Amino acid sequence: MLDLTGKNALVTGIANNRSIAWGIAQQLHKAGAKLGITYLPDEKGKMEKKVAELVEPLRPSLFLPCNVQNDEQVKSTFEAIRNQWGSLDILVHCLAFANKDDLNGDFSQTSRAGFQTALDVSTYSLILLAGAAKPLMTQGGSIVTLSYLGSVRAIPNYNVMGVAKAGLEASVRYLAAELGPLQIRVNAISAGPIRTLASSAVGGILDMIHHVEKVAPLRRTVTQIEVGNAAAFLCSNLASGITGQVLYVDAGYEIMGM
Ligand SMILES: NC(=O)c1ccc[n+]([C@@H]2O[C@H](COP(=O)([O-])OP(=O)(O)OC[C@H]3O[C@@H](n4cnc5c(N)ncnc54)[C@H](O)[C@@H]3O)[C@@H](O)[C@H]2O)c1
Repeated sequence: MLDLTGKNALVTGIANNRSIAWGIAQQLHKAGAKLGITYLPDEKGKMEKKVAELVEPLRPSLFLPCNVQNDEQVKSTFEAIRNQWGSLDILVHCLAFANKDDLNGDFSQTSRAGFQTALDVSTYSLILLAGAAKPLMTQGGSIVTLSYLGSVRAIPNYNVMGVAKAGLEASVRYLAAELGPLQIRVNAISAGPIRTLASSAVGGILDMIHHVEKVAPLRRTVTQIEVGNAAAFLCSNLASGITGQVLYVDAGYEIMGM
């Protein structure tokens, strides 16, 4: 049975009720996990207010600002976990960012700064958060990140994010190899296209979704809750023998050739 009772779970990447991280947080909560939620702070505090209202029904025991480009905020987040929880069992890395200019247009024109930003926020942050989580996962643990098919196929308008996701999936394997002896498992979910704030920056996202609906074996794309269920599974003992993998939660689209 999928039971996360007594598990301490940190979930990053909730921006609104369309966020994949919101689907994951709901399913972790349903399975009994205690939640810590981080959000990307802005100057006016709008994001804090919006996310706080959204997650309130899940009664998170920790609610913290954490911009992954800010080392101090990352440090404070894990200090708060150490002080309040003592240990961590689950880390959900569900965030990414690239400048719109570096997603659309010619890949060969990707700027150095845009490349660095995309890889820093979307890829390096997994390594940073996993490194901070490692000493807190004293009873083993599970780390889950979110990827997309653009890591292994050239998808129109995904460009630099495809490179970031390829790096992310390689990082999953290197982290899994390092952390395995500590019984910390690291996996990625490669989700099918879903309408969210982040995906709206990918030109033609609606066409991509319609294409998947026509071609995928299940003749539809997936929901945030379906991704949440897969994440809850990967975080549970039911997945105790699985690490270093990329699990496609995409209605089967990835297997199709034509
Ligand atoms: N929506 C899709 O079609 C799809 C498909 C496959 C994978 N994904 C991946 O799922 C993850 C979540 O994206 P989403 O689609 O739910 O969109 P989203 O916009 O709801 O979530 C992206 C999150 O990243 C956060 N973020 C951006 N920069 C950050 C920073 N510097 N520090 C901390 N947080 C930061 C945002 O605040 C936001 O909460 C991403 O990794 C995305 O690439 C999305």
